Amino acid sequence: MTETSTRGAPSASTADDYDHVAPYYDTLTAALPETNETVDFIADHAGSGRVLELGVGTGRVACPLSLRGYDVTGLDNSAGMLARLRSRSDGAKVDIALGSFTDPPVDGEFSLVYAVFNTLFCVISQNEQLRAIEQAAERLTPDGTLIVETDLPDLARSDSSGRTLNTGGVERNRVFIEAAMHDAATQRIRTQTIIVSEQGIQMFPLMMRYFWPSELDLMAKLAGLRLEARYGDWRRGPYSRDSSRQISVYRRADKPER
Ligand SMILES: C[S@@+](CC[C@H](N)C(=O)[O-])C[C@H]1O[C@@H](n2cnc3c(N)ncnc32)[C@H](O)[C@@H]1O
Repeated sequence: MTETSTRGAPSASTADDYDHVAPYYDTLTAALPETNETVDFIADHAGSGRVLELGVGTGRVACPLSLRGYDVTGLDNSAGMLARLRSRSDGAKVDIALGSFTDPPVDGEFSLVYAVFNTLFCVISQNEQLRAIEQAAERLTPDGTLIVETDLPDLARSDSSGRTLNTGGVERNRVFIEAAMHDAATQRIRTQTIIVSEQGIQMFPLMMRYFWPSELDLMAKLAGLRLEARYGDWRRGPYSRDSSRQISVYRRADKPER
């Protein structure tokens, strides 16, 4: 792959990409260490009203949250991911909406809107990311909260052309490999997750646009929100130069500090 392949190159929509990954998503994310802590953190910020997850996927967070009694709506633009959510034994309590978080087809207000696990990176322009945050802010109750979790890309791991190659799980009958190409000019990273097994090779391409917390704060400010807290992990560990991710908690700027 050449570097130019990430520069303004057309990419399939994320809905197509996630439809493709949907049957494997739970396997690929099974090793995520912090799902319980994520649900605890989200529950602590849920308030007393409805909760909306942007890019709910297969319900990794929304399903356990709904089992705790929260009124959860899950929005996603991948019918395949939502079909997986619906098929879960604990998925019935989540209200589902099919559509984009840049124009959410959901009515009413929410005391919490959240987007975890790099979901806001899935729209690959600043305009779309800003639009998603504005749309979320518009749906918050007056004392509502927005939570955004994203990784902090470790660009030092790329070679001089922006490439990285990582080995994921190594099992007896299959190996998970992730190849990535970073383009600093567009803040985009194209990834290929490759599963090599006795049955053959499967490839799961994704494109994302990352942003740093400073850009996120500015987009939130434009959307009428202010940062209340930022953490480096779901256990409320400090956000610091050593953090590999950030979790930001925003409230409406017109509300007094709690
Ligand atoms: C990284 S996955 C996260 C899924 C889930 N939140 C989790 O933590 O496991 C990103 C999800 O966002 C969805 N998505 C991507 N772009 C979207 C958009 N514009 N509108 C709604 N959902 C979108 C994808 O289909 C996918 O389910």
